[in-house]
Amino acid sequence: MVNVKILPDKEHASEEVAQMLHDLIVEKPNAVIGVATGSTPEGAYERLAEKIQEQHTDVSQLQFFALDEYIGLPWEHPESYHSVIARTVTEPLGVDPSQVHVPEAPDDATEGSINYYDEKITAAGGIDLQLLGIGRNGHIGFNEPGTPFDSPTHIAQLTELTREDNSRFFEGGIDEVPQLAVTQGIGTILQSRKAVLMAFGEAKADAIRDSLAVPSSEERPGSLLQHHQNCILYLDEAAAAKIDR
Ligand code: PGA
Repeated sequence: MVNVKILPDKEHASEEVAQMLHDLIVEKPNAVIGVATGSTPEGAYERLAEKIQEQHTDVSQLQFFALDEYIGLPWEHPESYHSVIARTVTEPLGVDPSQVHVPEAPDDATEGSINYYDEKITAAGGIDLQLLGIGRNGHIGFNEPGTPFDSPTHIAQLTELTREDNSRFFEGGIDEVPQLAVTQGIGTILQSRKAVLMAFGEAKADAIRDSLAVPSSEERPGSLLQHHQNCILYLDEAAAAKIDR
């Protein structure tokens, strides 16, 4: 079941998502939250941090699980997702690093499932709310087109388009962007109790249209959302422009 909310701009959407997260944290102080990297959720994290500070919200029992991480990039690298999550989530929200989990795979890993991460999510009680972004090619996490809908956390080969899009974060350009990553699988994401996907800007309009196109297809990873038990898309007008209303 997919609900779509179209907001005037990214700021309004980020505020609504931050409020939803804060409501969850107040209602369930030991909530398990799935966090995405990328530029899309940054505003929501900033606003959530403000609410936590202003209202002295208890964050000591929360657990966070990141969606993905590059393989072959040292954790100390500023663009490793260990670093990005520390900078955008752990530190601003004031949570202890032991409450925040980022998937890991050995540098020489080339393929296969990474079972321990899904087991850790299950042991934590399962994800209450999973935040998601979407790539221009419809990828969710690093689940590129063709990823099975029942995939667990696994090692993924990045497409050239994804590496090109992410090269803007790397001083050395595309050559510095890893070829491989470890990512929560689509099956992992489908088990979250609620999924909240944000997408802003016209570059995402095709991916959003394709995510909502029926029937769903593994060639369009965003269409996994059609199989989710409780999913909301927060879009700005530009990202929503190609939806058949
Ligand atoms: P972005 O990336 O938030 O930086 O646009 C989203 C994604 O690639 O999943």
